[in-house]
Amino acid sequence: MKVFVTRKIPTPGLDLLRKEFAITVNRNNRVLTKEEIIKGIKGKDGLLCLLTDPIDREVIYAEPKLKMIASYAVGYDNIDISAATERGIPVSNTPGVLTETTAELAWALLFSVARHIVEGDTFTRAGKFKGWAPLLMLGQDVTNKTLGIIGAGRIGTAFALKSKGFDMKVIYTDEQRNEHLERELGAKKVPLSELLKESDFVSIHVPLMKATYHLIGEKELRVMKKTAILINTARGPIINEKALVKALTEHWIFGAGLDVYEKEPEISRELKSLDNVVLQPHIGSGTIETRTKMALMAVDNMIAGLKGDIPPNCINKEVFLKKTTK
Ligand code: GLV
Ligand code: GLV
Repeated sequence: MKVFVTRKIPTPGLDLLRKEFAITVNRNNRVLTKEEIIKGIKGKDGLLCLLTDPIDREVIYAEPKLKMIASYAVGYDNIDISAATERGIPVSNTPGVLTETTAELAWALLFSVARHIVEGDTFTRAGKFKGWAPLLMLGQDVTNKTLGIIGAGRIGTAFALKSKGFDMKVIYTDEQRNEHLERELGAKKVPLSELLKESDFVSIHVPLMKATYHLIGEKELRVMKKTAILINTARGPIINEKALVKALTEHWIFGAGLDVYEKEPEISRELKSLDNVVLQPHIGSGTIETRTKMALMAVDNMIAGLKGDIPPNCINKEVFLKKTTK
């Protein structure tokens, strides 16, 4: 069978995939257009894609032979899952392996903003450091503060648990109660408005979907403390970026740490010009170990799917229910 891979992923994954199938890997070191993806999957049985690929209805219906889509990401807002289900194509993601790695980046952003790490580095390199000064780059303490988690799933939970060393009060929003967090940290489930009002640090860990699009906008930012810091390592469109720029420019909040953007890879000039925001290029899962695990996981799913088995990380298991009840 034949598999199309939309961009080079870590070699151990490609080697494993090559042992099982005839594979074609996009040779250009860039994101393919939708048209190029459609061309790429011609005559292919499997598609191994990335979160940057628009896998919409048109792509999903483009190749009649296509029978498995394995994504190299945990978030799958870029894939039309209902179209895939309709066509009987299983879709898989890579949950779990990137949980701690993404939670670590969220903490790195939190500290970077709280203590002006990036600004301080730029300042120092520019030769502006003229000696210790009582009022130089004063930041925010982290210990004993209140941490607000929006979305207490895998990543939100891992992020919260890492606060143990900083003796923080933890509050969270989620559709479900997270008893593990409540037991481990004395965390409390609260409404979003209360979380925004009470938290010194707010970190977003919900997936992007209709209900979370622009979850944080002007109204929400106005409720936050003037000293608060907002962290987003989930998906850009969860925050109304225009409203965030306004909040940061007018100092409604202390700062923000972002790994994701509303229109990636575009970032507004206004956002880039602010020094109370730390910007990262969507590298939440970007460690050598984790990206390798993600590659192997995507490939394991592809192998299972093309063998007709339920992929271990299948998102739309209904596909198999349909098949067995037919
Ligand atoms: C990264 O953003 C992912 O969804 O894997
Ligand atoms: C994503 O993997 C999450 O559940 O937090």
